Amino acid sequence: MTQKRQRWGTRTGVILAVAGSAVGLGNFLRFPVQAAKYGEGAFIIPYLVALVLVGIPLVWVEWTAGRFGGGFGHSSAPGIFQSLWQKNRFIKYFGILGIFGPFLIYMYYIYIESWCLAYAYYSLTGQLAGIASSGGFIDFLSGYQGLTGEVGTFAGTSQGFIFFLITFSLNISVTYFGIKGGIEKLCNIALPILFFFGIVLAIRVITLFAPDPLHPDWNSINGLGFLWNADLSALKSPKVWMAAAGQVFFTLSVGMGVILTYSSYVRKKDDIALSGLAAGTTNQFAEVVVAGSLVIPAAFIFFGPGEIVNIANSGAFNLGFVTMPQIFNQIAIGPLFGFLWFFMLFLAGITSSISIAQPSVAFLEDEFKISRQNSVKIFGAAAFILCQPAIWFVHRGVLDDLDFWGANFVIVLGATLEIILLAWIFGIDKAWNELHQGSRVRLPRIFKFIIKYVTPACLLTLLGWWFYCDWWKVITMADVPPENVPYILGIRLVLLLILIVLTILVFMAWRKRNAGKL
Ligand code: PHE
Repeated sequence: MTQKRQRWGTRTGVILAVAGSAVGLGNFLRFPVQAAKYGEGAFIIPYLVALVLVGIPLVWVEWTAGRFGGGFGHSSAPGIFQSLWQKNRFIKYFGILGIFGPFLIYMYYIYIESWCLAYAYYSLTGQLAGIASSGGFIDFLSGYQGLTGEVGTFAGTSQGFIFFLITFSLNISVTYFGIKGGIEKLCNIALPILFFFGIVLAIRVITLFAPDPLHPDWNSINGLGFLWNADLSALKSPKVWMAAAGQVFFTLSVGMGVILTYSSYVRKKDDIALSGLAAGTTNQFAEVVVAGSLVIPAAFIFFGPGEIVNIANSGAFNLGFVTMPQIFNQIAIGPLFGFLWFFMLFLAGITSSISIAQPSVAFLEDEFKISRQNSVKIFGAAAFILCQPAIWFVHRGVLDDLDFWGANFVIVLGATLEIILLAWIFGIDKAWNELHQGSRVRLPRIFKFIIKYVTPACLLTLLGWWFYCDWWKVITMADVPPENVPYILGIRLVLLLILIVLTILVFMAWRKRNAGKL
């Protein structure tokens, strides 16, 4: 059954949807941890440079490629890549990365998103209010994940699983209602609420007085300084550059095929240059202004500059799920602020996870002509099964391994492929015209140069550096504790299997398509 191609309802709708994809757990959980990890002032310059030289150019690349491919009836990377390089028979197979990457992130993102919903609920019910120390919060989190604690408090993972089921069902329902009826509607409502909550929280943090009489300099202004007072000596460290670039990709949702898919539903005559910039700016506002005025200053005020670095290094979720609720317990109407924090995270999460689902659903719809409803059912069944390893084997490092492949490796590889394809094979002049078609602004020409030379060079350097330093360690699992090796191996085999299945599906889809043409 063939359905009419889906479209966005309004221009604001598509901007909010792309911004919704970008503003996610990455902004509020990942960014503060990355910024804190490398010490005071180390992160901001590499981050801003990566944003201008790689992040924003990639945003335009994806919007351009996506709308172009959409014109040929394709909304996922295999078809979009094929439209950009029509003569090449193999390029569509590279596009598999644009389905594989998001799917991989889906396999753990929904689970983390469900913790946020659970913690919003526990804030309201007062369950977090009685916990006094960081140790207490760490135990609470691992109890919630079913790792420790007596049966009866959390009874294994059962409560966590219920919140996962609720979160998963909400996600699938939004996807089921489609681009305009589901995704656009949700983002139109969720994004303003999320920003409102975020700004209220940031104002609360900025107006906090230094609570510790022994450390009057642990105040919000110095907390902001932790992020913004650039430490130039850190620029020499390639690690900070890698981390900054990785964060920029992750937060903008580029390199994954997600923006490709969203922009494929934009009409040819509609603007993409300004829309892309607007969505990117909204994301950066949420990240550096809102999240930057929130988590880091709050942690600074209560724990001081040295301890922030320790907290960030002690675990990816400790700032968000341990330090923040601990702080809320020390301020007036803490449970309410706790609720605002965790519910904001949940909204940020769901507006991103629905975007991660869309490439797979679009692939089934466009390339197999399966109805949207049935595509969502097939996707839902597969995703439900494949979300399980991250839930049940979280203590075995499965979640971290998925995050490594999805958020670091596939993103950089995908971005490199995409930009070479558009700027070099499709051609930068054609791409530049395509980007400006229907555009409400003319972009500075310097970006034409950046997109053609600078961004690909940066990406290739990043990839090369990664291969040089890490690939052998990662492949041989040198840093994995021996008892976790079978689990990591298992999840990698699952990933390999997904790749093989996707390859077969692309092969079948094009065979059918070609047979139809003959
Ligand atoms: N940008 C989202 C975040 O910051 C995550 C994401 C990555 C979404 C890749 C889509 C694609 O959380």
